[in-house]
Amino acid sequence: MDVLDLPHLDRGPRSAPAIVLLHGFPLDHAMWAPQIRALEAAGFRVIAPDLRGMGKAPATKGPGSMALYAEDVLRLVDRAGVRRFALVGFSMGGYVAFEVARRAGDRLTGLALVDTRADPDTEEARRGRSATIEKVRAEGPRVLADAMLPKLLSPAAPPALVEQVRATILATRPEGAVFALEAMAARPGSLETLQKLARPVAVVVGERDEITPPTAARLMMQAAPSASFTIVPNAAHLTTLEAPDAVNDALVKWARMLTS
Ligand code: MLT
Repeated sequence: MDVLDLPHLDRGPRSAPAIVLLHGFPLDHAMWAPQIRALEAAGFRVIAPDLRGMGKAPATKGPGSMALYAEDVLRLVDRAGVRRFALVGFSMGGYVAFEVARRAGDRLTGLALVDTRADPDTEEARRGRSATIEKVRAEGPRVLADAMLPKLLSPAAPPALVEQVRATILATRPEGAVFALEAMAARPGSLETLQKLARPVAVVVGERDEITPPTAARLMMQAAPSASFTIVPNAAHLTTLEAPDAVNDALVKWARMLTS
């Protein structure tokens, strides 16, 4: 298996409890900028990689699988000298976090699930991913920007933020996007994984998230009834940048409950 060394940010004291932030599709670690600042200020070590094929991480040929993303994350923490860590997964990063939990659940100190879901793709969603793969191969990441921007951010988002996110999407290599789409379509359901995880869990979702809506977040809450639950008013999918204060508050509260 060709496990990669992921480019990443590593902030805060090396001896502090570690929190690893996994970004969504087709984005990179910069979507966590406000949370990196807040968690570091709260005293944690924060590690934020670019996942393979996105940001500055090399793209590899498929078939895409959550297994490879998860093994990349495990290599990252091993190389950082971190044995136990908490994971924060946004959307596709949440799918990767569930895969890490299946492979190395004993190493997790907690799990925060931000605008993500634990149920797998429906057949219709899988067909949609196949169609998107064809379009990305033919026309490049512009099709992703056109389709996703209206769902990532609400109409009230500042134009500069919309342009920042558009630029990130346009910089995605087609091979990296195809790998991610294949991996997302093939991912298993994770409600059982969540049910079995006896660690502090936080669920955060934008009130207007159409990609991973509050109904999907409620399913996760049923699987982890003791989790903290935050609905971010008026925000769409990319809450970390659109409503950073609300997300920071939820994550810092959760991080203070982490088991060591
Ligand atoms: C993401 O935001 O990471 C993806 O859009 C999630 C998905 O397509 O399921």
